[in-house]
Amino acid sequence: MRRPPPARNLAAAAGLPGYEVLQYHHTYLRRRTDRPTLRSPDGDIGVVDGNLLGYLRAEPALALVAYSPLLGGGYVREDKPLDAALDHPGTARRLAAVREVAKEMGASVNQVVLAWLIGGDIPMIPLVGASSVAQLEESLAAVDLELTAEQRAGLDAAY
Ligand SMILES: NC(=O)c1ccc[n+]([C@@H]2O[C@H](COP(=O)([O-])OP(=O)(O)OC[C@H]3O[C@@H](n4cnc5c(N)ncnc54)[C@H](OP(=O)(O)O)[C@@H]3O)[C@@H](O)[C@H]2O)c1
Repeated sequence: MRRPPPARNLAAAAGLPGYEVLQYHHTYLRRRTDRPTLRSPDGDIGVVDGNLLGYLRAEPALALVAYSPLLGGGYVREDKPLDAALDHPGTARRLAAVREVAKEMGASVNQVVLAWLIGGDIPMIPLVGASSVAQLEESLAAVDLELTAEQRAGLDAAY
């Protein structure tokens, strides 16, 4: 059976603009996708994984809006425990890497996470939440934080 073409192909065939933005949860820590969720018994289907990143890389006209990039404060707050999907060995290695870069730059871990999302070679727009002006200002300052190629390579290599 032939699969229906993706919505962007349908739009193009009809001479209409296609969608240009995908909104998914995404952050520096990587989630396990094999655990059943409320939406799917087959694993977590709403996650940015290699398939989606590959698609975004191949379609530069698309941008990813990455929601909950700060894990609700989970990177820096004990009152916000990390989700069970992050309970795997890669999390400790990524946390160590991002904390080291934050220390090096005199920035917060949240800021390094945002700078990593913003400055990568796949276009990403973090959709952050803030409950105070201080939180908002901290996140906004990440726009001016530029990771060196070496820092980015170190962050990318931890998994
Ligand atoms: N499309 C979807 O399915 C979907 C799903 C979820 C969210 N969203 C959208 O994404 C937006 C952002 O989601 P989110 O609120 O989960 O994003 P987030 O940026 O991961 O978390 C924001 C929360 O993190 C805490 N925080 C922020 N800055 C902090 C800092 N500097 N230090 C310590 N804690 C800090 C605050 O929690 P406290 O309030 O506890 O201080 C803040 O409310 C939402 O408003 C929503 O519009 C979309």
